[in-house]
Amino acid sequence: MFTHQSRNRHQQLQQHARRQPQLFLAFALTLLLHCLSVTQAFVIKEDESFLQTPYYHSQAEIEDMFARFAKTFPENARVETIGRSLEGRNLIVLQIGRNVQQPSTPLTPMVKYIGNMHGDETIGRQLLVYLAQYLLYNYETSLEVANLVNTTDIYLMPTMNPDGYERSQEGNCESLPNYIGRTNAAGIDLNRDFPDRLENQQVSQLRSHKRQPETAAIINWVLGKPFVLSANFHGGAIVASYPYDNSIAHHECCEESLTPDDRVFKLMAHTYANNHPIMRKGHNCNDTFTDGITNGANWYELNGGMQDFNYAFSNCFEMTIELSCCKYPTADTLPAEWARNKRSLMQLLKLSHIGVKGLVTDASGYPIADANILVSGIEDKPIRTTKRGEYWRLLTPGIYNVQALAFGYQPSEPKQVHVTNENSEALRLDFVLSPRELNYDGISSFYNNFFYRH
Ligand SMILES: *[C@@H]1O[C@H](CO)[C@@H](O)[C@H](O)[C@H]1NC(C)=O
Ligand SMILES: *[C@@H]1O[C@H](CO)[C@@H](O)[C@H](O)[C@H]1NC(C)=O
Ligand SMILES: [Zn+2]
Repeated sequence: MFTHQSRNRHQQLQQHARRQPQLFLAFALTLLLHCLSVTQAFVIKEDESFLQTPYYHSQAEIEDMFARFAKTFPENARVETIGRSLEGRNLIVLQIGRNVQQPSTPLTPMVKYIGNMHGDETIGRQLLVYLAQYLLYNYETSLEVANLVNTTDIYLMPTMNPDGYERSQEGNCESLPNYIGRTNAAGIDLNRDFPDRLENQQVSQLRSHKRQPETAAIINWVLGKPFVLSANFHGGAIVASYPYDNSIAHHECCEESLTPDDRVFKLMAHTYANNHPIMRKGHNCNDTFTDGITNGANWYELNGGMQDFNYAFSNCFEMTIELSCCKYPTADTLPAEWARNKRSLMQLLKLSHIGVKGLVTDASGYPIADANILVSGIEDKPIRTTKRGEYWRLLTPGIYNVQALAFGYQPSEPKQVHVTNENSEALRLDFVLSPRELNYDGISSFYNNFFYRH
């Protein structure tokens, strides 16, 4: 808290006080005032130099910047290309973490932010470029940034639809005719192109043959990595929208379609909206959303969307964030957009640390993959352990019974936990499972109907 200068001054004051003990009260008061002014004077200004002369970074500029980051910050930044667009552009991701050259420390939650899925909705794209710079430039000086980066495995993908972006035009607030720019190069809306939890197998197979490369890349990524939390960024409205986007009723709108984890999703949506000075008001772009949040299907129903896919087909809880009325505003609005969204972006990342997490192992400590973690009251959404036996289970505060089940093992006893989410990391809850006894056929006698529900 004290600098050299202020430390000298501090010592002088102390000596002075020792010489004249009757002045102790004056000394204490002076010291108090002194502390206050030092705190004020030495609040470190965050590095947001990236906001000078704002402009939208091109595909090539994003690739160059990320490559430079990987060189300049080799411990904290790593570039990855998870696939290519139809026209061959890289789907580029920047990973930010404590030590990205090594496999992450077990139980570090993985989170992702994806921008520009609709090529003509561009603010999210540039905000993620800013967020990458913000995290890396302030890692050394901001305790908040260092704590977040050190404990979280963060993946930023500024554009999921680089081909659509190339067809879009700065200053266009609405989509072009035939949704050119919104869609990918084949004219497909990528947010309708994902496997859908409600479609039958024939439809699903038919659609899988025609799946776009951008969608396929994300599907493989989501199914291959244990993401815990995610957001994807859009434009054309200002609201935080949470699953489901589709419903069994298939009404066009105005009917909620809620997940078993509605409390967690509402917490995520409120966290984003409440930290956004405009979103939280709820009256924007001629629309009204109470507190700036909405259930997707209650707003308008859509099938084959990305957020539903994440939740229904993986452990990842994803939300859709609509950032602005104008889809592709001129670049001079970008610094203000950053200022509005910065707290929200940071606070949402921190939510990857709520609830419980832990390891599932056998008696000798060997990790058990694909074990299911069941939580009382939300049994319909089991969470599966990773290859390393890890799980993360986002939960809102409350008392829960948590149980681990794995094929070939006896189910664990339910463990009761009191989740408060008052710590900076999830509550640790490990399980050690004992093998099932085998019957004379050598087949496990454990047939929990749970395993046949998928
Ligand atoms: C973050 O991790 C680095 C590298 O392990 C360490 O030097 C630094 O002290 C950590 N910072 C915080 C705030 O935990
Ligand atoms: C809101 O509606 C009015 C009247 O229909 C229209 O003139 C205006 O452009 C709309 N504003 C936005 C942001 O869509
Ligand atoms: Zn969109």
